[in-house]
Amino acid sequence: MKKCLLFKVAVIGAGAAGLCAGRHLIVEPDRFEFDIYEQQDDVGGTWRFSTHTGQDQYGIPVHSSMYKNLRTNLPKEVMAFPDFSFQNCDGRSFLHHTEVLFYLEEYAKHYGLYEHIKFHKLIESIRPLKQENMTEWAISFSDVITKEKETYIYDAVMVCNGHYSVPYFPEILGLNNFKGVMIHSHDYREPQDFKDLKVVVLGAGASGIDIAIEVSYVAKEVILSHNTPPKTCPLPDNTRQEKGIESIDESAVTFIGGKKYKCDALIICTGYLYHYPFFEPSCNVEIGDQKVSPLYLHMFLIDYPTLAIWAVPKLIVPFPIYDQQSKVFLKFLKGLIELPSPEVMRAETEKDFNRRLEAGFKPRHAHLMPGDWQWEYDDALCKLGKIDPVPPVVRNLFRHVHHLRTLDVIRYKDTKYNLVDNKTFEQVN
Ligand SMILES: Cc1cc2nc3c(=O)[nH]c(=O)nc-3n(C[C@H](O)[C@H](O)[C@H](O)COP(=O)(O)OP(=O)(O)OC[C@H]3O[C@@H](n4cnc5c(N)ncnc54)[C@H](O)[C@@H]3O)c2cc1C
Ligand SMILES: NC(=O)c1ccc[n+]([C@@H]2O[C@H](COP(=O)([O-])OP(=O)(O)OC[C@H]3O[C@@H](n4cnc5c(N)ncnc54)[C@H](OP(=O)(O)O)[C@@H]3O)[C@@H](O)[C@H]2O)c1
Repeated sequence: MKKCLLFKVAVIGAGAAGLCAGRHLIVEPDRFEFDIYEQQDDVGGTWRFSTHTGQDQYGIPVHSSMYKNLRTNLPKEVMAFPDFSFQNCDGRSFLHHTEVLFYLEEYAKHYGLYEHIKFHKLIESIRPLKQENMTEWAISFSDVITKEKETYIYDAVMVCNGHYSVPYFPEILGLNNFKGVMIHSHDYREPQDFKDLKVVVLGAGASGIDIAIEVSYVAKEVILSHNTPPKTCPLPDNTRQEKGIESIDESAVTFIGGKKYKCDALIICTGYLYHYPFFEPSCNVEIGDQKVSPLYLHMFLIDYPTLAIWAVPKLIVPFPIYDQQSKVFLKFLKGLIELPSPEVMRAETEKDFNRRLEAGFKPRHAHLMPGDWQWEYDDALCKLGKIDPVPPVVRNLFRHVHHLRTLDVIRYKDTKYNLVDNKTFEQVN
């Protein structure tokens, strides 16, 4: 580790995670100099909705996976960063995506982050430069407009590039033979495109369920096809569930078990891939089947812990956990806390993975944090970083909403909440 007072830090991405990193860096100008690199025109990351699909005006893949009608699936009382509330939402808790983007823009303004952000800069390469007792980082980027390339050197890197942009398509026999409309949720924008069609939605994560419901209001019929236990809550009248898909031909899908269904459209909602195209081989980052390694506490690169990756855990309350990750990482840089030895970090990481397998997780769920797993994770961050946990009221309201969603997935977003104190919330409608 560098033994000097001032650290130069590169932040990759100006979405929620990168802005949160900036918010914690900027308050310590005596300890940190930093630049935030962002390929797009403005802040907000995935919340910066685009009607476009494919490539943007600069020829880079459209980053956002937002769709026109998307509302949050967490109430704003849970979603918010701990030190910055959502304002002026008429008491509503589940917000439209434009309100989240506005919130992130206000957050960036409030903390004076804009002047640290280098827009239109696409990070192309990150590589460690090994010195005697420390590692520096060479960060190479190009300007997406001028195509000019540059390389700067930093002491530490906070990788906040998001992981809901590169679609995961499962291997299904005949997938490419389908002649109807076929899109991934990353390219889904609005239900009107499916008016009067017979639609199969594959995958019952948040995208699959939400898209199936909104498409059902205009489609002739919707099948939600998935391999998780059948949803027991009511679904729209023209929507039913089937097992996952075994094979596909030009005009029909065959579900596992053999039932065949003729359909006009297929919406693939099977999730996204972790994607870090800028890591040079010398970083030793491996991306297996939905597993990024070797990462201690799902963030610190074990071999070079002055680089960490944000937002790797899934099914979490993103903004509050990013805040926790930022606090811990900066304490580590400042030398206020110590990481275990690389051997111990590897052993603990391996233990975490094995515990998941023993609990029945699939190997590709290495970073999944369902139910209280994320609070255990938060506790581990707190123990290492000597910081306070996400407040009990956030944990309690998250659990409550999760339960409500299993009872009434169609209407739960109409509920409104107030936070009463650090532990208690109230439902106000
Ligand atoms: C459809 C959808 C709905 C969601 N709904 C909710 C919700 O209701 N509530 C909730 O809390 N969370 C929700 N999420 C999760 C959401 O991803 C997180 O809340 C959070 O916004 C992620 O922030 P991030 O900064 O990690 O990533 P992103 O928002 O993806 O930001 C990453 C940034 O990095 C930039 N970038 C990437 N690569 C490079 C590069 N090579 N060079 C330079 N810049 C780069 C991108 O342009 C982008 O601005 C949703 C996600 C999706 C996809
Ligand atoms: N605000 C909102 O309402 C909203 C809407 C959409 C998305 N989001 C957010 O966006 C993020 C991404 O969500 P997501 O739903 O796109 O991805 P996701 O959470 O990764 O879910 C993908 C689902 O597809 C399943 N799947 C994968 N392969 C499959 C196959 N071959 N057959 C059937 N199912 C398969 C996965 O199951 P297994 O891996 O278990 O097999 C998983 O349940 C999340 O943070 C989510 O909260 C929010």
